Amino acid sequence: MKLFIDSADPQEIAELAETGLVDGVTTNPSLAAKTGLDIFAALKTICDAVPGPISAEVLATDAAGMIAEGERYAKIARNITIKVPLTWDGLKACHALRDMGLMVNVTLCFSPVQAMMAAKAGASFISPFIGRLDDIGEDGMGLIADIRQIYDNYDFRTEILAASIRSVSHVREAALAGADVATLPPVIFRQLLSHPLTDKGLAAFLSDAKKAGLKIRDT
Ligand code: G3P
Repeated sequence: MKLFIDSADPQEIAELAETGLVDGVTTNPSLAAKTGLDIFAALKTICDAVPGPISAEVLATDAAGMIAEGERYAKIARNITIKVPLTWDGLKACHALRDMGLMVNVTLCFSPVQAMMAAKAGASFISPFIGRLDDIGEDGMGLIADIRQIYDNYDFRTEILAASIRSVSHVREAALAGADVATLPPVIFRQLLSHPLTDKGLAAFLSDAKKAGLKIRDT
């Protein structure tokens, strides 16, 4: 499973990229607004830090405007992915941007049929929002499973990018349901390796080694 970081903060992303385990980044207008930075400069820094797909979301709501904004974003770097909303105009723009050879992430997906339509429009990624569905008492993970089945039934190549992830359990469940990618807030990414028995086991190994005077290097 590929792991993306759901953030627009270049410094935080660069730190996490040092793990060598960050495959891409998703930004959105709310995340960009939080940083207070110039979005084009921030995206350039992020594209340099992470070689994988970096999603940059359009603000226009009409297809022509989305295409124009997408072309502008695409000039930042080769790994920019244009993020468009799941609307008729968004899918029209998706088609056009894909024809131009650009990657497109279709966002704000809340139903299996929406995901099917995005795949028909040639989306590179579809972003179903797990947490926001759970928030209103619906089954976010069920949506991932439904999309997986539809895409497999028709051999759609669109990658399922599980978004609005709120916990490490969400990552586990999305992986089991067959999501291709999960985009994680930095705080969740940092929790991925946490397990009390790992910490306890390591402390015991090191203390036993110290007691026995075990050494691997002279220094
Ligand atoms: O990138 C969009 C998505 O991940 C938003 O998550 O937590 O605002 O629902 P959230």
